[in-house]
Amino acid sequence: MRKKMISGIKPTAQLTLGNYIGALRPFVLSQEEYDVNVFIANLHCITMPIDPEELETNLKDVLLFYLASGLDPKRSNIFLQSDIPEIAQLGFIMSCLTPMGELNRMTQFKDKKDTGMSLSGGFYTYPTLMTADIVIHQADLVPVGEDQKQHVELARNTAERFNNRFGETFVIPEPVIAKVGSKIMSLQDPTKKMSKSDKEGEKGVVYLKDDLKVARKKIMSAVTDSLGVVKYDVENQPGIANLLTIYAALKNISIKEAEAQFVDVQYGTFKKAVADVVCDELEMLHEGYDKFAQGGFVDDVLRQGADKMRPGAQAMLDKVQKAMGLDWK
Ligand code: TYM
Repeated sequence: MRKKMISGIKPTAQLTLGNYIGALRPFVLSQEEYDVNVFIANLHCITMPIDPEELETNLKDVLLFYLASGLDPKRSNIFLQSDIPEIAQLGFIMSCLTPMGELNRMTQFKDKKDTGMSLSGGFYTYPTLMTADIVIHQADLVPVGEDQKQHVELARNTAERFNNRFGETFVIPEPVIAKVGSKIMSLQDPTKKMSKSDKEGEKGVVYLKDDLKVARKKIMSAVTDSLGVVKYDVENQPGIANLLTIYAALKNISIKEAEAQFVDVQYGTFKKAVADVVCDELEMLHEGYDKFAQGGFVDDVLRQGADKMRPGAQAMLDKVQKAMGLDWK
């Protein structure tokens, strides 16, 4: 039987090249081998303050980019997280099985807490909702970028804890991290992750919606160094290493193969080659986005996706409730 894969993207802001290389593209490539299930994590989005209009726009964009990148609703299930209310119910149960000590150790929580901003309870228990997202569908594999690996490991621990306490119930999921491109860095500060919510660093972030000219300019003005050698050396040449990663990931080649193509090549020429592959990819995405935005069938995609996924989620929640003694039937 094909292994079951699940993952999602939060419609918080415009999708970036990091989301595409670290998550979306791997989802699409997985369709050859796995039973692919991908959702829009709209509930995760409201763990931070969000403008409703912006959320609605982002939500449509994520769906259109899923389709534009080649996720095929005939082969894969695409759904909206909140269309399966059993997920939130299981999320509460999972939060009761997760020690606060583990939540306190989550890097994303610690980083936000350190900024001193006021955080919601939902933000704190965010990883327990992720656990429910994964285990409710009995997923084997969870492709994510480097920054989400810790959350998938927490899901693994919680599923194991549940099985030990209440009997064999959940499949234990495994994070899948792309060999190349699991952490694309900002073009302006290559020691920081390229992030959709990086408001100050727009020049460092390529958005999937960026006009090709704008994207090209961002790549051409990416921060590099004065060493003048195109080499993968994260420590001393983080900017060049990041550009090599982007190039290799989009070309589907190894970093070594990418390096070999730019021996004795000047930075300007190298950057142009990177900009060319990025722009080719964006052009393909923009064409798909426009095509799907015009066709009326996108509304059906999410409904059909939820219709297919919900019965399994309901059965799983029943099983959990029975195992825990919550169910009186
Ligand atoms: P989100 O929306 O922040 O990111 C979506 C996916 O993109 C990856 N990613 C990156 N990969 C490489 N380089 C980058 N610069 C980069 N930035 C983001 C993320 O690692 C992620 O895989 N909590 C999740 C959404 C979620 C989820 C889940 C994922 C909710 N439930 C269950 C998997 C399984 C999130 O906020 O991802």
